[in-house]
Amino acid sequence: MKEDIYILGIESSCDETAAAVVKNGREVLSNIISSQIDIHTIYGGVVPEIASRLHVQNINGVIRLALKEAKKSFEDIDAIAVTYGPGLVGALLVGVSEAKALSYALKKPLVGVHHIEGHVAANFIEHRELEPPFVCLIVSGGHTHLVIVKDYGSFEIIGRSCDDAAGEAYDKVARAVGLGYPGGPKVDKLAREGNPHAVEFPRGEVKNSPYDFTFSGLKSAVLNYINHANMTGESIDKADLCASFQNAVVESLVERTIACAKEFGFETVAMAGGVSANSGLRAAMEEACRREGFKCCYPAPGLCTDNAAMIAAAGYYEFMKGNISDEYLNAVPNLKLGER
Ligand code: KG4
Ligand code: ZN
Repeated sequence: MKEDIYILGIESSCDETAAAVVKNGREVLSNIISSQIDIHTIYGGVVPEIASRLHVQNINGVIRLALKEAKKSFEDIDAIAVTYGPGLVGALLVGVSEAKALSYALKKPLVGVHHIEGHVAANFIEHRELEPPFVCLIVSGGHTHLVIVKDYGSFEIIGRSCDDAAGEAYDKVARAVGLGYPGGPKVDKLAREGNPHAVEFPRGEVKNSPYDFTFSGLKSAVLNYINHANMTGESIDKADLCASFQNAVVESLVERTIACAKEFGFETVAMAGGVSANSGLRAAMEEACRREGFKCCYPAPGLCTDNAAMIAAAGYYEFMKGNISDEYLNAVPNLKLGER
């Protein structure tokens, strides 16, 4: 085996067309993201058909740029890693088809990567010393999972959301408050100016499942609060509302994550996914870990949200395990965590 392994990562599961070159699973040589946010914002959310078309338009240029910035050629690449699920099927297919074509033409191995495994692997880029096992809270637009990362690419699910994902709740509340799409970062920003105790919103509990999450009750409580204010003509302090909503979300995420680490005997807690870019969540998890004497890890904000460096990092570990995909690799929109 060569001393250094270079993986080209490709990500197109939602509204970012991304490509990256990562050395030995940890060192990012380039990380190019072509965001479609401006276009989807016009429609108030991601339009799948438009996302697919824009991926087709942008993917070759994004890959070319990733190689150029990394100062590598296709010949230097050891394997091509691509997200094959979960995500929007048409969007995923663009990346998967591109990766298959490159793999065939260049005679380089193809590695299909689970998008959420990629999010977790962003931590390996940020924390070069981090190794499994550890507890990880995965909070994205589509997933809220509390897992034990047993090994690279091997997860035991301890808890999950039984309704909305945390990011979904953020986006819906943002829309109700009139902040628009994408909501998470906007609620985060406004929450910093508000009082987190202004409104006591409910913290959802799932009966007999202490590690599961529920956000639908909280979301309804926020919507009811807004409707009530509209009906009675009262004005709403948006900053207080965002801060109070965020406080309820963060509390339920942090509480379960710390309890899980304690019960299962782990002293390292990591976070992954778009919502782990949230400033309130980062501060609260840091503080809780400091109290317990745990190590707290999370990626830089740009590595929390969708990117291809995380896919290359996860792809590196799959490649080293010999998990190579064949030319029949297909997009799997509802791929479950832990499935291949
Ligand atoms: O991981 P991600 O980029 O895409 C998925 O795989 O879903 O996560 C996107 C989600 C969106 O719901 C977005 O509103 C949320 O992450 N998000 C945030 C923040 N940044 C992104 N939520 C709260 N605070 C943030 N700063
Ligand atoms: Zn994602």
